[in-house]
Amino acid sequence: MAFKELYQPVHTIIGEGCINEIPRHISAFGGSKALVVTDPGLEKIGTLKMVTDVLDGASIPYTVYSKVKPNPTVSIVNEAKAQYDREGCDFVIGVGGGSPIDVAKGVSILVTNGGTVEDYNGLELSEKKGQPLIAVNTTAGTGSEVTRAFVITDEVRRSKMLCVDSNSLAYLAINDPAMMVDMPPSLTAATGMDALTHSIEAYVAKSRCPFTDGIALESIRLIGQYLVRAVENGHDMEARTQMCWAQYMGGLAFSNAGLGMVHAIAHQLGGFYDTPHGVANAIMLPYVMRFNMTHCADRYADVAQAFGFNTAELTTDQAALAAILYIEEMEKRIKIPKLSDTAFNPDDALALAKNAMTDTGMPENPRQPSIEEVVKVMITAYCDKGDQE
Ligand SMILES: [Fe+2]
Repeated sequence: MAFKELYQPVHTIIGEGCINEIPRHISAFGGSKALVVTDPGLEKIGTLKMVTDVLDGASIPYTVYSKVKPNPTVSIVNEAKAQYDREGCDFVIGVGGGSPIDVAKGVSILVTNGGTVEDYNGLELSEKKGQPLIAVNTTAGTGSEVTRAFVITDEVRRSKMLCVDSNSLAYLAINDPAMMVDMPPSLTAATGMDALTHSIEAYVAKSRCPFTDGIALESIRLIGQYLVRAVENGHDMEARTQMCWAQYMGGLAFSNAGLGMVHAIAHQLGGFYDTPHGVANAIMLPYVMRFNMTHCADRYADVAQAFGFNTAELTTDQAALAAILYIEEMEKRIKIPKLSDTAFNPDDALALAKNAMTDTGMPENPRQPSIEEVVKVMITAYCDKGDQE
């Protein structure tokens, strides 16, 4: 292809306190009543209140839908959309990590295009721009606030639908690190590893370009430097701020370059067992990198450099391996579980692999696996119990 099309939100604000800029943007597009989509946990710990306080302060009417669960389903999107219609809303605010923002994107698309979420399972299947969406990110991160993708679980087929649709891009993306300080360490770890997986998969994806290469590498550098700090001290504002930038760049990178085999498998682990997305990615990342080594060791060597290794005296393979070992060490420090600690059942491996082969991330993987090779990668991860200390 001789040209490359890039996607990003219309507006983005990053930095401490930027949440207070939301009313200015609502005035700009003339919104009158918001459907605020979030999850019960964020409502309970007061993160949602940070947003509704800003809306209250500007006398902007809203109604809250707070029943989003991890790996959100078609029925959750339908329920939120019904509330939007019932309450006479005309724009959507998603407050959360990936799940509430994904649901908000689904509502935004359904309002202007009609039909059901299943109609948009695939690439660019809607015709009209969605209703204005403000995506307030509370994790760092899924990148959902910057991407044109939303993932909804088909609860009947127990599989994940990946809707990739530029009509779902946010009007305004908000990354305020002050909203992330109360994120528990385990969630900081899982979402940070999701961001790292976005950047690494984008950096080796077949549709990569110089723009995505640049932001992916800087994202990897920042995550290598700041993720452990953010996990160990959630109130470290420098670490939280730098992770905001890292996850934003990772989101932009994968949204414009594509993903790979890690996400192709992680989507199935989420669909089958409700394994949290970031945990599933973190678990699979080193094993898929080992599998991919024969096809992109030079790119993984760049990842090692981004982590701070001096690779001048190393062969390409040694440098690539250094990147993988660094990730494994980091995962130990931030207490990422092994696949055998999750609900994964090796008897399901073949069914999971078959689904993974049809995932939209798989064609972007630098090495195209057979079904048997996908099974082997999963079983290798399952049999690795880590150091028995
Ligand atoms: Fe992801």
